[in-house]
Amino acid sequence: MRALTWQGKRDVRVDTVPDPVIRDGDDVIVRITTTGLCGSDLHLYEVLGAFLDPGDVLGHEPMGIVEEVGPEVTVLKRGDRVVIPFNISCGSCFMCGHGLHSQCETTQVREHGTGASLFGYTKLYGQVPGGQAEYLRVPFGDSLPIPVPEGPPDDRFVYLSDVLPTAWQAVAYAAIPPGGSVAVLGLGPIGDMSCRIAAHRGAGTVIGIDLVPERLERARRRGVHALDLKECDDLSDAVRSLTDGRGPDSVIDAVGLEAHGSRAAATAQGLTTLLPNALARPLMQHAGVDRLAALRTAIDLVRRGGTLSVSGVYGGAADPLPLLTMFDKQLTLRMGQANVLRWVDDILPLLTDGDPLGVDDFATHHLPLEQAPEAYAMFQKKQDGAVKVLFSP
Ligand SMILES: NC(=O)c1ccc[n+]([C@@H]2O[C@H](COP(=O)([O-])OP(=O)(O)OC[C@H]3O[C@@H](n4cnc5c(N)ncnc54)[C@H](O)[C@@H]3O)[C@@H](O)[C@H]2O)c1
Ligand SMILES: [Zn+2]
Ligand SMILES: [Zn+2]
Repeated sequence: MRALTWQGKRDVRVDTVPDPVIRDGDDVIVRITTTGLCGSDLHLYEVLGAFLDPGDVLGHEPMGIVEEVGPEVTVLKRGDRVVIPFNISCGSCFMCGHGLHSQCETTQVREHGTGASLFGYTKLYGQVPGGQAEYLRVPFGDSLPIPVPEGPPDDRFVYLSDVLPTAWQAVAYAAIPPGGSVAVLGLGPIGDMSCRIAAHRGAGTVIGIDLVPERLERARRRGVHALDLKECDDLSDAVRSLTDGRGPDSVIDAVGLEAHGSRAAATAQGLTTLLPNALARPLMQHAGVDRLAALRTAIDLVRRGGTLSVSGVYGGAADPLPLLTMFDKQLTLRMGQANVLRWVDDILPLLTDGDPLGVDDFATHHLPLEQAPEAYAMFQKKQDGAVKVLFSP
């Protein structure tokens, strides 16, 4: 089959690789019809190379049609339409039972002390072949794939794999009081969708912050107070003036470890991509090479006693946070990979009864998978208005 493979820093290629096969009795093989490109893929493209091998298949936002089922699968059958969550969760362990699918105890990667395995996401998360491919092997075939109805186009459902549950969790963890205020840092797919969900769920004031003009404009069109980081002399002042002088009740960080605005850490990150992997890995994991600009801004902006919700992915360990300020401001902080299956029942009604979140025209680009290498470059450089790219294998 054809699949998008990682080869090195900023080097991905569509190659012919072996077709996946049923390995366990409850596996299913899905023929992928649509598969997303995510901000998380950009971390692999740029800074997390030490945890990948050339040839690894990327992608964790796929949907498609069940092609083959293992002998123990009873719920799904060939021909069913399904979306595949990005975290690989068994559905039956203690963590899955508590709605913490991103911590699944059956698929945790104990070797690296990390949570549930993820599709297409480095050795830290199990080095499982990903879904930017023609076919995908999916374990836990009776509980992991999300069945979706026939009818609407793939765009309606594909974001159930990641964008929708991630944004939903970001908003849930932000604990915005009814009619209250939230500032969302980063207006990529995750931040944009977080703004939409926050407004849909009753936030009174939604502020979005980014530095890419068309991303700001896109949020503005949906009623968000969009602030351009580059044009605000004093962002805190600008945000406070929209929130009774106090700052928002809640702040969502939808930026993550490659935030613009921290030069020293950018240099450290750059270094890790030049070092041999054996040296780069511990540096990446333990020496705090995250660029924390967005997280620091979030801590600064939120009102005293407010809540921070972090959905942006961070990767280092040692870079100290402004703990004095966090303690002094009495903040509540929640974070983590999205527990995809936990939120599906909340989200599905918003996809089957009209399209209140505007997912049908959320994607800016629909491309054949063969054009994925160009699309990665375009999305990273934020060229051509690219916000969300969907591939057809
Ligand atoms: N928690 C999860 O389960 C989960 C799931 C998916 C994605 N993510 C993470 O969410 C983050 C966003 O993903 P995305 O797909 O929207 O990616 P993206 O890269 O398109 O979005 C990031 C946005 O942040 C903006 N930005 C950069 N520095 C900023 C700063 N200092 N202040 C404000 N904005 C800034 C960029 O211009 C960009 O628009 C990534 O870190 C991704 O890994 C987490
Ligand atoms: Zn994703
Ligand atoms: Zn589990």
